[in-house]
Amino acid sequence: MKAGAHRRRVTPRVERPGWDPALDLPLDDARRARLNQLAETVLRRNWREGTKHGVPYAFTCPATPRYRHQWYWDSCFHAIVWRRFDPARARAELRTLLSAGDPDGLIPHTTFWDHPAMWRRAPFYGTRSFHGDGATATIQTPLLALAWELVADASPDDRGFRTEGIDALRRHYAWLLRERDPDGDGLISIVLPDESGLDDAPKYADAFRWMRHDLPGSWWLIARARRLGYDAGRIAERCDEHVEDVLVNVFLARSLRALGRLAGEGENGGFWTGRAARIEQALLDRCHDERTGLFLDLAGRGERPLTVSTWSSLAPLALRDAIPEDVLRRLVEEHLLDPRRYAAPFGIPSVSMEERSFTPGFDRWRCWRGPSWMVSAWLLVPPLRELGYEREAQRIVTSLVLATERAGLREYYNPLTGRGLAAHGFGMSALLADLVA
Ligand code: GLC
Repeated sequence: MKAGAHRRRVTPRVERPGWDPALDLPLDDARRARLNQLAETVLRRNWREGTKHGVPYAFTCPATPRYRHQWYWDSCFHAIVWRRFDPARARAELRTLLSAGDPDGLIPHTTFWDHPAMWRRAPFYGTRSFHGDGATATIQTPLLALAWELVADASPDDRGFRTEGIDALRRHYAWLLRERDPDGDGLISIVLPDESGLDDAPKYADAFRWMRHDLPGSWWLIARARRLGYDAGRIAERCDEHVEDVLVNVFLARSLRALGRLAGEGENGGFWTGRAARIEQALLDRCHDERTGLFLDLAGRGERPLTVSTWSSLAPLALRDAIPEDVLRRLVEEHLLDPRRYAAPFGIPSVSMEERSFTPGFDRWRCWRGPSWMVSAWLLVPPLRELGYEREAQRIVTSLVLATERAGLREYYNPLTGRGLAAHGFGMSALLADLVA
């Protein structure tokens, strides 16, 4: 067989960037309206309310039957989208999330409102015990204050909302800064890979090794964290499996700025704004890699940079005002818009297409290993626009709209073909409606 013929067989035409002519269809009002309807229908279908020990709750579950509980970052994103359709539900979702917190300020990664996690499920979740905990003792990317401010801005009918959560929000962020920054460098750490929300991302292979999320060793990692009381200080003292994650810290910085505004900090900033600035500076000083232009997570006590390029290495784009413009433009031109790396036909891939670990299709429920999620576009498209790359930004959005027209709101999409993958009716993917609004 000729070499050329062989190459054609293993690379089907549809997998080649830019091939699909439907990608050029204009995004008109009718398509936007259909997308809004789809997003609202999915959120309404996933809405859950009830009472637990006399306490009312209301939230959107990510997708049934797989994800029936309340997840911290999903809930924030759901509320951000709900504010466009039904601000009362957005407020209820965030109030429920805040009420799941403990008095110290930890707000759990997952809260089990209906059925507590018993011995069969508990080994997979970061609970304190196997005896029916109502929530995990772990965190997830902490964007509650950011979501709170967006929902407050959309709540002219409930002016008290803006400030009603302020004490609890302060407690939450003070807890994160106190408990999760054991080396005091300004960047908070995660102690389990799923605390970022990016469970199986290949960047974590080097940090968590045989204990990473997709291997049986992850039970051991959870069991050890449980023994150490999920105390990041004790974990960092004894072990090397913890990460200062760029994405987590980008969302934290954005949230602290939002908290500063909610708390009425003025033009010259104040405590929370100052803490945000410290994180931004630390990202620049400690995580920015001059050689590649990417922002890299730091692993373990020795702060080893994790060199796999994933969308979180581009996340500081969302800190546009705090990062020098030449650093941002490098992220855009050498990475986000490079067709060998992140400029895929559909959305923004979760891993650079150039990485050996890039896996565009479904991979036994292992996630964040290549497919495009809506959240990466939601975070990165607005700064792309603000930097003047309007046409490229629009192309990303339109490609995702096309993917949803063909496949509905799925958990994630193949960045080469647009094929919908994993869970159906996935709430967080409704973020696309916020992006096109
Ligand atoms: C998966 C995702 C995580 C999400 C959760 C619930 O674990 O990796 O980001 O929060 O599902 O949707």
